[in-house]
Amino acid sequence: MPPYPWLFDLKVTPEEGDVVVSIPEEFAPRDGRQVIASKDALYLIAYLQELKQAPLSENVAPPDFLYKRETVSDKGSATATPTKSDGQALYVAHCQSCHQANGEGLPGAFPPLKGSKIVQDDDLEKYIDIIMNGYDSRPAYSVMAAVGTNADFTADDVAAIINFERTSWGNKAKEVTAEEIKKIVDFVKLKAK
Ligand code: HEC
Repeated sequence: MPPYPWLFDLKVTPEEGDVVVSIPEEFAPRDGRQVIASKDALYLIAYLQELKQAPLSENVAPPDFLYKRETVSDKGSATATPTKSDGQALYVAHCQSCHQANGEGLPGAFPPLKGSKIVQDDDLEKYIDIIMNGYDSRPAYSVMAAVGTNADFTADDVAAIINFERTSWGNKAKEVTAEEIKKIVDFVKLKAK
């Protein structure tokens, strides 16, 4: 595959809000600069992610390099005890490519989370179901994939994301605890099977 340098910027010090692409050492820039995804790259990823994903057939092994996912236990250093999930970091990694850094989404593709009733509702079941299992309810928007299930979110991760979204961009809703939502997370996981 040829390189697409116009989709990326190189920076010595990434700025706040920059999405740093983690690249295997042998492909990283020699001068130590970091690779930052441009807006076009993020739009391209958002577009690709919203396409319906067909599962690989059983006798096709997923290539490690493409599909290796960070699990909760290898975030942070190997010896550290698991730290509390960071809602903003999880949002940047898993939601922002579609719903955008300002929570406003993109008209015609991704709905805003800023001011969203679902995000701020007291009833959390629909919200958690969307995070874990995806959502396809309105022709005005594209399809949201099963982001939480694909990334193996724990109740801790889900609570952290919910709290970040419920208290950002002017949203003001009660924060939740992992204990409080664990039952719902387990329930919506079962529903997906
Ligand atoms: C690949 C793009 C994409 C990603 C990544 C994504 N979403 Fe979505 N999301 C969508 C789309 C598209 C919809 C609307 C689907 C519809 O209504 O048909 C949506 C809808 C939602 C809604 C409903 C909002 C409302 O008021 O209608 C919530 C809440 C939500 N997403 C949360 C999240 C969270 C949290 C994450 C990260 C864990 C996330 N999304 C990641 C594309 C995405």
